[in-house]
Amino acid sequence: MRLALIVILLISALHICYSKEVFAVGDLHGDWKAAISTFDMMNVIEKGSNPPKLTLSENQTLVQTGDLLDRGRNGLQLLRLSMYWHKHHPDQFVQLLGNHELMNMQRIFEYVNDEELTPEYRSIFRNSSSSEMIYLENDTIITTIIDDVLYVHAGLLHEYAILGTEEINQQTKAALKSKNFRHSLLRSSGPLWTRKLAMKSCKALTKALKAVNAKHMVVGHTIQKDGVNIQCLDETGHAIILIDTGISFGNKGGIKIVDGRYLHVYSEKKGTVVHDLEAKKTFESVVDRVESAQNRDEL
Ligand SMILES: *[C@@H]1O[C@H](CO)[C@@H](O)[C@H](O)[C@H]1NC(C)=O
Ligand SMILES: *[C@@H]1O[C@H](CO)[C@@H](O)[C@H](O)[C@H]1NC(C)=O
Ligand SMILES: *[C@@H]1O[C@H](CO)[C@@H](O)[C@H](O)[C@H]1NC(C)=O
Repeated sequence: MRLALIVILLISALHICYSKEVFAVGDLHGDWKAAISTFDMMNVIEKGSNPPKLTLSENQTLVQTGDLLDRGRNGLQLLRLSMYWHKHHPDQFVQLLGNHELMNMQRIFEYVNDEELTPEYRSIFRNSSSSEMIYLENDTIITTIIDDVLYVHAGLLHEYAILGTEEINQQTKAALKSKNFRHSLLRSSGPLWTRKLAMKSCKALTKALKAVNAKHMVVGHTIQKDGVNIQCLDETGHAIILIDTGISFGNKGGIKIVDGRYLHVYSEKKGTVVHDLEAKKTFESVVDRVESAQNRDEL
């Protein structure tokens, strides 16, 4: 009797399919309006809320892959939104550091929008005790792996990957705190700047991913005019997913990865397309993917 009950409980537990979903959005570059409408399109914020509230359930994470600042007029406003989300969802909202945040921390203001570059703006980045500087130094990270997928602003080459993600984050944090901007992790071949992996360097991608025991890599930084771009998957089984769609140039896009396998590509122009990264199959919509899975179960 008791055994039967346990069996029934086990069976019902197996039926609860607990999926993990990771949303990722690339470079926003001071464009508040485009950023908000992208988050709206991906259904991660409460419509009309001000400041915009995240609506993540406990199995959902949002990763912003860096470059909130520069070019557009609302860089600081986007940085403060990130701080607000981090404060309220420290375990579900991940802010990666981009090279444009780094430049502002170095007081390189040449990409700051003329209208935004006020004395107040300069003083925030010149003041090590400002809440914005403390946030950038202390609460952003360089890279993280969720469900076998590695997220980083520009790309992670093997020479850095061998350190492991924890060590990369810790070393960078220490370098930023001590203003050691010559640290090797902050150089042009480092995770905030390199474009090597965005140039279809599939061998280098595989080598780096193997070093951290991850399957795929998601990066921003290198703009993809035709929207989210998946490279290397067919050749190697490892994908690099390039998500800088140029949101601040009016090309809204982002992704959601379910269980490290189903890649949902959001695009204003093309709607949502789903790729099965394991089966290397593309579905025209979420409904097609679900129907395909159901048919498989029936066979
Ligand atoms: C996410 O988790 C909740 C329980 O917290 C569950 O009800 C829901 O089905 C899950 N979502 C997915 C897509 O699995
Ligand atoms: C730096 O920022 C802190 C915290 O906001 C503030 O108390 C302090 O006055 C600022 N210092 C300068 C020189 O602006
Ligand atoms: C730095 O980050 C840690 C962990 O997120 C936090 O506990 C600590 O309060 C932060 N320090 C400052 C000065 O914000």
